[in-house]
Amino acid sequence: MTPIKKRSFERIRDIVYETSGIALTSRKEALVSARVGKRMRALGIDDFEEYLRYLEDHHDEEIVGLLDAVSTNVTSFFREPHHFDFIADEMNAWYESGQRRFRLWSAACSTGEEPLSLAMVVKEALPQPDVDLRILATDICTETLAHCELARYEDRKVAPIPADLRSRWFTSTGRGDERVWTAKPALTDLIVYRRMNLSEPPFPMRGPLDAVFCRNVMIYFDDAVRVRLLAEIGRLLKPGGLLFVGHAESLAGMISGFKYVRPSVYRKA
Ligand SMILES: C[S@@+](CC[C@H](N)C(=O)[O-])C[C@H]1O[C@@H](n2cnc3c(N)ncnc32)[C@H](O)[C@@H]1O
Repeated sequence: MTPIKKRSFERIRDIVYETSGIALTSRKEALVSARVGKRMRALGIDDFEEYLRYLEDHHDEEIVGLLDAVSTNVTSFFREPHHFDFIADEMNAWYESGQRRFRLWSAACSTGEEPLSLAMVVKEALPQPDVDLRILATDICTETLAHCELARYEDRKVAPIPADLRSRWFTSTGRGDERVWTAKPALTDLIVYRRMNLSEPPFPMRGPLDAVFCRNVMIYFDDAVRVRLLAEIGRLLKPGGLLFVGHAESLAGMISGFKYVRPSVYRKA
């Protein structure tokens, strides 16, 4: 494969920013070269200039492939566990006050661990039959969304799930390293997966939402995209609704109409 030229990197960087809000700095050149290179090998292209021409000619289809290639999809079940304890307590309080309809959004759901963790904790916290719960789970990456729909996870991926929850909410097949866990319909039926680009508000949902998990995605955006996204989340949340962000994502100076609750948790005023 021909090494990437600065000009090609800059063109790819600009296209990625315009279409996803993901801001790739020059420190990401090696990463982009490796990830886009892999995509190019799948297409039988070995030159970045030629790939850019291909992208121009097949823009609508290939932009999806490019964004799939450059997005970072690291996630895990019960990542930042205190968020899940907090939402469980909050849902209980809302139920006690008479609320029965709950709408949650996992805004960058990657391979599905986040919405499934949410579904498990809420089902455990509120087993009552009159609870009307729906979770919207969205991502820009079509490969991870396909993974979400399968809801199948290798043994090592389900390790963070407490054993009792794992056996209640998953079925397993195979043995040892080959063991695979599949989420039960009692969980998956609660979740709707959609492709959605967080850098392009307004979003089609009407709201009001009770809580939004928008975690570990704003780190890839610049302030302009973050401010637009936060304003849209503010529009969609109910008064008193909760926003959870990644612990490395400070919203200082970017968010209005929210009260700080604790690190990485905000409440709409
Ligand atoms: C690091 S993962 C975070 C997953 C999960 N929220 C968590 O905290 O574990 C970031 C996800 O953001 C998605 N993403 C990046 N840019 C996006 C955009 N503009 N719109 C929607 N999703 C985006 C990526 O595809 C990736 O799956």
